[in-house]
Amino acid sequence: MSEVKKPVFQPNKAFAKEARIKNMCEYQELQDWAHEDYEGFWDHFAKEKIDWFEPYTNVLDESNMPFVKWFEGGKLNVAHQCIDRHLDSRKNKAAIIFEGDRGDKQIITYLELYYNVNKMANLLKNEFGVEKGDRVVIYMPMIPEAAYAMLACARLGAIHSIVFGGFSAEALRDRIIDAEAKTVITADGAFRKDKPYMLKPVVDKALEEGCECVGKVLVVERNGEDVEWVAGRDYSYNEMIDQQSPVCDAEPMDSEDPLFLLYTSGSTGKPKGVQHNSAGYILWAQMTMEWVFDVKENDTYWCTADVGWITGHTYIVYGPLAMGATTIMFEGVPTYPDAGRPWKMVEEYKINQFYTAPTAIRVLHKTGAEEPKKYDLSSLKVLGTVGEPIDPPAWKWYYEDIGNSKCAIVDTYWQTETGGHMVSPLPGATPIKPACATFPLPGIMGEILDPETGEKVGAGESGYMCVTRPWPSMIRGVWGDPERFVKSYFGDVTKDGKPVYFTGDGANYDEDGYITITGRTDDVINVSGHRMGTAEVEAAIKKSSDVAEVAVVGKPHELKGEGIFAYVVLKNEENLGELVDTMKAINNVIKQEIGNIALCDDIVFVPGLPKTRSGKIMRRILRSIAKGEAITQDTSTLEDPAVVGQIESCVKNGSC
Ligand code: PRX
Repeated sequence: MSEVKKPVFQPNKAFAKEARIKNMCEYQELQDWAHEDYEGFWDHFAKEKIDWFEPYTNVLDESNMPFVKWFEGGKLNVAHQCIDRHLDSRKNKAAIIFEGDRGDKQIITYLELYYNVNKMANLLKNEFGVEKGDRVVIYMPMIPEAAYAMLACARLGAIHSIVFGGFSAEALRDRIIDAEAKTVITADGAFRKDKPYMLKPVVDKALEEGCECVGKVLVVERNGEDVEWVAGRDYSYNEMIDQQSPVCDAEPMDSEDPLFLLYTSGSTGKPKGVQHNSAGYILWAQMTMEWVFDVKENDTYWCTADVGWITGHTYIVYGPLAMGATTIMFEGVPTYPDAGRPWKMVEEYKINQFYTAPTAIRVLHKTGAEEPKKYDLSSLKVLGTVGEPIDPPAWKWYYEDIGNSKCAIVDTYWQTETGGHMVSPLPGATPIKPACATFPLPGIMGEILDPETGEKVGAGESGYMCVTRPWPSMIRGVWGDPERFVKSYFGDVTKDGKPVYFTGDGANYDEDGYITITGRTDDVINVSGHRMGTAEVEAAIKKSSDVAEVAVVGKPHELKGEGIFAYVVLKNEENLGELVDTMKAINNVIKQEIGNIALCDDIVFVPGLPKTRSGKIMRRILRSIAKGEAITQDTSTLEDPAVVGQIESCVKNGSC
């Protein structure tokens, strides 16, 4: 590959001196240790990091790949790991610092967190009958009670499944039904840009149909707006919580007992319930917090994600609390009241590590490039990015204007399925290059493989980003669908005759062996760092009565990374007169079926789709047309090659 050589930035020397991993030699030693004695490596850290109720008898059982077992026989409780074990030394330390949209603040110490979580656990157990193994859906805004709910479930051994608050009633319903949830925890709503918005009505709508599994709904009253209460089903958290005992035993859980489900999009079919289990997940969450953010005892760490995504799970709640850190939770949006909000908060809380998505960096850069200059950002030591490839201009602004050219940027590459970081710089050790995830973390056997041969590709070459050995926080299954689990992740790439975990991403090594992630190789679109399956969006659009056929692809977008581009064939061409209404109708259907995050940026009406003779839609052609690229693919195998030219002119003219 002929690429312009990227500049290299060395770690800050003063920072490196105090870092947990201080240089590349230490990195290499750890990585060599893992290569030579994989189980010994993990055994060491599992013993060092986790407060076991009972020790495990076996480090790793991979005899039934990909159904692996880590730390079998061990007993622990993740809420205990995140809270109770800190009480001796950190009871008065801030565990969570909350800032509301309107600037209201709350500091929750570890002792207060302990009581709040216990009360919530007692409420769920004693009033709702929630038991170990039950599924609890959490549909919440970014308020401390969302973290209490997660940890209360963990304390009882119930499996939480958080649904992002931007998903629609239909999407919420599908997830409730798939998980057969017994309880839903929600809020009346919350605040965004100084205005209340609502969640409870969405839950009410979701529960109208097919959710007989749900017996009880717990409602946190956050914004105080009127909501409907269904007698015998809906209960107010605010009214009940003070009557609960602040003491609740943590249920001893097996290492491989499920901790949570999190639904994510795949290239086909409906979203998958990614299952994470207890010991391996919490171990890697904690280790990566320590290594990648290098949070120190007195530091304040802020991850701007939402708890509805995996980043919120691992790097707002579980990882920081497992290591006893102070984590910020922010209800609002980074551009309100202006694009200086995050920098104002950095100054005020003296934040040391700041973790966000490239899409947020682009928006903050575009709408407030000068804002950082107004604030004192000197507390910052580590800046993180996650969720999508970051483009060099955004990286440069982040590095120079936010980090004052002295902070490491950790471009963390990982996925819902990996539970924690896989490929990332270490802030005290790794010389970084812009927009480059660099190297696999110690213990992670990440390799770029040639999909055909299964061989590791060489310097300057690209291939598929794979992980060749199971790691502790690896996805343990797709809820209720073991076949889909195997097929989705272990079906495409084989190394030495054995299927290996394939991430779905393409990547390349540069001349120094640095890994750059280039994006998905499948039909998954990454919109503002959120994964959307094209199949899912297409299924939603097809519900619109005017639509005969549809194909959706991703198109580069200045702020979102990728936007959604839909090619729609209408049932009745006479409808072409009311195109604007039809577009609106299509986006309304998407809003209802999935939520605003899946709205299309472009909808183009076309006379037909480019299909092979066997009926397969040639999406690559559609991707090229959306990007305005010349068609280089062979179109002679299409059922109707002429359709390509017709589609091109529709796109050029805005429609047919
Ligand atoms: O395509 C990769 C991209 O985000 C996908 C995972 O999305 P999700 O499961 O929603 O988790 C997002 C938060 C971990 C990956 O398959 N991705 C994630 N991080 C990066 C990235 N692409 C490039 N660089 C990254 N640092």
